[in-house]
Amino acid sequence: MRIGVLTGGGDCPGLNAVIRAVVLTGANRYGDEVLGFLDGWRGVLEDRAQEMVPERCQDLLPLGGTVLGTSRTNPYATPDGPGKVKATLAARSIDAVVAIGGDDTLGVASKLGAEGVALVGVPKTIDNDLSATEVTFGFDTAVQIATEAIDRLRTTAESHHRVIVCEVMGRHAGWIAAEAGIAGGAAEILVPEVPFDLKDVCERLARRHRRGRYSSIVVVSEGALPADGEDLERARAATSSTSVDQFGHVRLGGIGAWLAEEIERCTGYESRVTILGHIQRGGTPTAFDRVLATRFGVAAMRAVHDGDFGTMVALQAGEIVRVPFEAAVGISKVLDRRLLDEVAAPFLG
Ligand code: F6P
Repeated sequence: MRIGVLTGGGDCPGLNAVIRAVVLTGANRYGDEVLGFLDGWRGVLEDRAQEMVPERCQDLLPLGGTVLGTSRTNPYATPDGPGKVKATLAARSIDAVVAIGGDDTLGVASKLGAEGVALVGVPKTIDNDLSATEVTFGFDTAVQIATEAIDRLRTTAESHHRVIVCEVMGRHAGWIAAEAGIAGGAAEILVPEVPFDLKDVCERLARRHRRGRYSSIVVVSEGALPADGEDLERARAATSSTSVDQFGHVRLGGIGAWLAEEIERCTGYESRVTILGHIQRGGTPTAFDRVLATRFGVAAMRAVHDGDFGTMVALQAGEIVRVPFEAAVGISKVLDRRLLDEVAAPFLG
């Protein structure tokens, strides 16, 4: 067969490991040819691609980012986008496409699948908020990076008796904040799923201070906000951006700085902010993510050769399974509250 592969959305450690698995499984097990489309759906729209021969995969396993490039291009927000996609696939004699991406990329795959395009999806996002899979590759690496950062922030916070707010990624879901916060022993973990009360946060920090704990790490997801009221309005004003991508997502960022300022104002404790940002997405994937990415890539090629299109490979109870796109896209996998209420709670404050 002749298979197309693409990576869309935010980059993520492990993307190259999936590409490698797709190319080598295709070549070595099935005798396939694999064509890599460049920059996600944009490369398909613009007919930009490169042949992915096995030799191209030699150094890919530990490499961060994606050698195919990526973009947040939405063919359904482009005039005659789906028509152009189909025309490129026909012109390139592509029998099936492996689309590696998160909710947006796989949402496009789902719609194209309904229009008759043969597609299999591979779930990707450091945010870990994609439904139907227990975990996505990239998440483990992001948590590891954030935890190492928190460990470093702790020693400087302790030396200066400061509060340090660490802003991590997580647009709608607090998975990174919760896991890195637990692993790093944070005093506060603030996530999008649980609007916070600024006064309560400050009161807990003050209580901690009275117990002789003069430094605190506050981990906050970029998408976290205060509960209703004046604080919410002020936080929104401080963090709002007018920049929107083709899928309608605003660019987030700024809650950490706002929070650090508010904490200092309300408690009098010297406070600082560190925004981890894209450091969490860069660099080499952990061993866990390399293995998961490889398993997903191999399983996607098996699905292609079984003709099981319109599906996404997923991790469930340790096994790689296939689920229909509809089970995964458009449904955000929110944080398991037990992580906060049961695991983190005894150690907070
Ligand atoms: O891919 C998910 C994510 O990392 C979010 O956590 C974050 O809000 C967003 O991407 C940032 O996207 P960009 O790199 O396009 O600014």
